[in-house]
Amino acid sequence: MAGVSVQAFRRQGRRYGAGLVCSEMVSCAGLEHKNERTLGYLRVASDEHPLAIQIFGSDPSAMAEAARMVVAAGADIVDINFGCPVRKVTKTGAGATLLDDPERACAIVGAVASAVGVPVSVKMRRGLEDGSRACLEVGPRLVEAGAATLTLHPRSARQMYTGEADHVLTAEFVELVGVPVIASGDITSRAKAQSVLATTGAAAVMVGRGAQGNPWALREIVDGDSAQPTREEVAAELILFVRETVRELGERRASGFLKKFYGWYLGRGRFPKPFKQELVQLETTDEVVTRLFAAAPDAAHIVERLEAELPDPADEILLDSMPISIYGGG
Ligand SMILES: Cc1cc2nc3c(=O)[nH]c(=O)nc-3n(C[C@H](O)[C@H](O)[C@H](O)COP(=O)(O)O)c2cc1C
Repeated sequence: MAGVSVQAFRRQGRRYGAGLVCSEMVSCAGLEHKNERTLGYLRVASDEHPLAIQIFGSDPSAMAEAARMVVAAGADIVDINFGCPVRKVTKTGAGATLLDDPERACAIVGAVASAVGVPVSVKMRRGLEDGSRACLEVGPRLVEAGAATLTLHPRSARQMYTGEADHVLTAEFVELVGVPVIASGDITSRAKAQSVLATTGAAAVMVGRGAQGNPWALREIVDGDSAQPTREEVAAELILFVRETVRELGERRASGFLKKFYGWYLGRGRFPKPFKQELVQLETTDEVVTRLFAAAPDAAHIVERLEAELPDPADEILLDSMPISIYGGG
């Protein structure tokens, strides 16, 4: 998820039972132009695997080059975005627009699949307009072009995130495509996951918004463990998240980026409402961490344990150690 699935989010997802995690969507144009921020998305830690890195773009050869770069960075799967409904992306002919241009969509998948040795997957919506069934036409063609697996989020691009994901359509899609399908949309509990798996024949479910500030939802979905976290556990996970995100994005970007997470973690009756407001208004993430420790002193032991369990940062594939061709610096 763009603006959400930073490394700390993905690592946390793995710790709480996610079988596979995915990066934010990465612009192939950004990679092509060696945009520093875009290259930052290719930072992969050793405890993230298996990891999919998602790329978006509209030009088959640029997408193939981007795919090579993300595999060099450590991706176990290259995922292609044919689902983004945001105008900034669709107006460039990328994202969900490609559901209306199957020729080009297939050319992209074909070029990417020939460029890399890892499996290629596609994430798509049902189509552009409400009620569209374009995915049923496009899906099998993408498989022919080389997609090893498809993820369907059965909303239209127009719907954005409103209404409900139509998993009746997912069931039709599974019947047609002949590769494992991952069902995405409104999976927030084990009961919902089980019902979507049973009624659609999907091979797996994908959890998006349900895991925002709530890794415990993943544990419930995967293991059926519905124990609610204590205040200390919530504070500890948030503190670790803040620290890791600062390490990844730097203080200036992280302090703005993190604000939405405070509500996600502290909501659900876990902390009094004004507390979230207080955190949002603090200027630095150090102040946020200090305030969280003050509110939940016993979180310190948990943070210590969690930090001790993190792999040595030396194991990370850092940008500096990536093949020089990625930077064009030689
Ligand atoms: C803030 C946000 C960012 C998202 N970014 C991406 C993205 O970069 N790539 C993608 O394939 N889907 C993206 N999605 C869609 C989700 O992957 C997922 O399909 C959708 O949210 C429905 O699943 P959910 O109900 O579990 O959230 C995003 C969704 C949200 C809410």
